[in-house]
Amino acid sequence: MTLTDAPRYAPTWLELREPADADARARDLIDPLRQHLAATLTTRGSLLIRDLGCGTGSMQRWLAPQLDGPQRWILQDHDADLLAFATANAATLAADASRVTVMPRHADLTQLSAGDLLSTSLVTASALLDLLSRDEIERLVSTCVEAGCPALITLSVTGGIDFSPADPLDDELTAGFADHLRSHVEGRELLGPDAGAAAAEEFSQRGWIVEQRSSVWQLGAAHADLTAEWLRGWVPAAAARRPGLDAESYLTRRLDALATGELRATVHHTDLLALPHGATTLLGAA
Ligand SMILES: C[S@@+](CC[C@H](N)C(=O)[O-])C[C@H]1O[C@@H](n2cnc3c(N)ncnc32)[C@H](O)[C@@H]1O
Repeated sequence: MTLTDAPRYAPTWLELREPADADARARDLIDPLRQHLAATLTTRGSLLIRDLGCGTGSMQRWLAPQLDGPQRWILQDHDADLLAFATANAATLAADASRVTVMPRHADLTQLSAGDLLSTSLVTASALLDLLSRDEIERLVSTCVEAGCPALITLSVTGGIDFSPADPLDDELTAGFADHLRSHVEGRELLGPDAGAAAAEEFSQRGWIVEQRSSVWQLGAAHADLTAEWLRGWVPAAAARRPGLDAESYLTRRLDALATGELRATVHHTDLLALPHGATTLLGAA
């Protein structure tokens, strides 16, 4: 696959999910991360952070203002349009009002090498892992470990969804969507809902300190536009893996329940912080 035929994510979809993503990411991973990065700041004077699969840049806008010190971010994506948006709309101030700058990198993240991460203080990613294969996750983890570069990987979808009120088709469609995420794309078998656990296992096997937290989207009336858009994508994708179900009626029932303010959907994800062996943080020393 070349950079120009990479699958596209609509910027409108990424913008719509940004507030729910910001609410969902696990904030209690930030303190140990800040503590780890404080040592980097003392020795290097600034942070170099690389956001992989940055999309419109929501991870940078969420995290940069929570970290202290001058920061340089490399925003990496294989979609040039998303990258232009992310660069133009980046956060510019750190928690302590230090300057934050960004540089775009139009490149395939599966080709990242330990050399690319020389001097990098942190790798971040958000809503990315399910798009990768086991080999690609293994390579990404090995690259971080070889470079001694910590990683904060958020919003890896787990496939779990709780609906209220319940509907008889919920479970079948939820399983169908998980199968959809595990699809084969150009000879690659995507890990989908298993990707977060696989990354945690890969870091742990290499002796790194791994902390995982649940991060959930709370969908419903408070995020009505996002919820409707999500249902319009989720239901057909799930139904394609469970032919024979009356998915059209299901979608109508769910949109009607959303319109009356009745529908709640909890969409489960997982966040992961991986720190080098020997790091001393609030999480404890390895
Ligand atoms: C679901 S979006 C998430 C975007 C952003 N991180 C966020 O949380 O809003 C996944 C992003 O990863 C990018 N992406 C996927 N595979 C990639 C690859 N192999 N190399 C570079 N970017 C990739 C896509 O272009 C897209 O912007």
